[in-house]
Amino acid sequence: MNIAVIGTGYVGLVTGACFAEFGINVVCVDKDEEKIDRLERGEVPIFEPGLEEIVRRNQHRGRLTFTTDARMAVQRSLAIFIAVPTPPHEDGSTDLSYVDEVARTIGEHLNGYKVVVTKSTVPVKTAERLKRTIGEARARSGREQFRFSVASNPEFLREGSAVEDFMRPDRVVIGAEDDEAVAILKDLYSALYLIEVPLVITTVASAELIKYASNAFLATKISFINEIANLCEAIGADVHDVARAMGLDGRIGRKFLHPGPGFGGSCFPKDTTSLVQFSKEYGVEQRIVTAVCEVNRLQRDAMVRKIESLVGDLEGKTLGVLGLSFKPNTDDVRESPAIDVILKLQERGASVRCYDPQAMESARRELKNVSFCTDPYDAARGAHALVLATEWNEFRKLDLDRLREALAGAVIVDLRNIYEPEEMARAGFRYTGVGR
Ligand code: UDX
Repeated sequence: MNIAVIGTGYVGLVTGACFAEFGINVVCVDKDEEKIDRLERGEVPIFEPGLEEIVRRNQHRGRLTFTTDARMAVQRSLAIFIAVPTPPHEDGSTDLSYVDEVARTIGEHLNGYKVVVTKSTVPVKTAERLKRTIGEARARSGREQFRFSVASNPEFLREGSAVEDFMRPDRVVIGAEDDEAVAILKDLYSALYLIEVPLVITTVASAELIKYASNAFLATKISFINEIANLCEAIGADVHDVARAMGLDGRIGRKFLHPGPGFGGSCFPKDTTSLVQFSKEYGVEQRIVTAVCEVNRLQRDAMVRKIESLVGDLEGKTLGVLGLSFKPNTDDVRESPAIDVILKLQERGASVRCYDPQAMESARRELKNVSFCTDPYDAARGAHALVLATEWNEFRKLDLDRLREALAGAVIVDLRNIYEPEEMARAGFRYTGVGR
């Protein structure tokens, strides 16, 4: 089967490459010529474990191609996945102009039956809008004899393990309007039957909502445990013990109960805000998710207060910060708590020395007047405290003696609870984590 994936951002590229790995012929489309040139040369513009190998292997086998020619891609494909950006507007609602543009292109070039699938996270009822826009463009181009159907197939990929998540998902959700579209989408995922991945076949609106509801629920777990962590600090309890024991209840589950500086990234902050926003348009309040967003925002301030509680007034102080990406194994700094905390430290008059194994390049665009260092010890050099902001594996086994010598003050603020408080006390540090 021939398919097209429009938009070669994070989701589009992983989707295209992984479908090619399933043996499907995939053409990936983007209007950014430079990006397409690079991809054609086998250069993957994002850091994602395993992705580059898959891209190269499938390019070599001729199953994965890249183009800026959307018309050609649409015309040769039976299924077209839309994975273009859906950025938030100022008020938290979603900008669908890229989706609309793709819809018009599809309508103008229809040459036979196609299933048009949304892969980007789009607000509920976007498929209806897609259908209208494609239909109008089709009419303008005199192509009404060609049928199409719209579907929603949300992705649940995590950055840093996106390839693995695509190849071994917990479930695949297919929201479609007719049996023909369902059959085509099921066929595309048939490689997953062998590992018995559950397939949820539902309506388009339900599929669209499943993505938001899932992400909002996970975000809720994080904000929930962060508030419990704050309480643990106040009463002298250990949030790790609390979370572990809670998680042993199968109804609760162990995952996403790790406290920290709050959630970041390209999905949770955007999806929670967007869910609140579009629910309002239907006259429905999302009180819980509204609180989840508020708690997440406040958690970042709480992290700065935590640093102040050990360092004192931040004016004129130097702080070393380890980790800039919103989580390990990615170079993505979108909505990263680390970046937010650094900006808040600077507002209070502190100088910042930072280090990240992958995200320094992307952080340079967000941060001014910080020193980008060569390694963790360089970041610690002369600092009044070291802040662990992202839990990269390489920060788990730091040489504590070397760190103490580099620092001007033996203070560590561990926003990810990488270390055990007793171990740090033994090593001669004034140390604080989150919720313990
Ligand atoms: C998330 C969803 O997991 C994925 O299914 C969806 O498709 C996109 O959004 P991602 O943003 O890549 O994926 O990262 P994830 O690993 O889910 O972490 C999100 C944020 O929550 C990170 O900032 C992380 O540090 C934070 N987090 C996660 C916690 O603070 N505590 C936890 O227990 C788990």
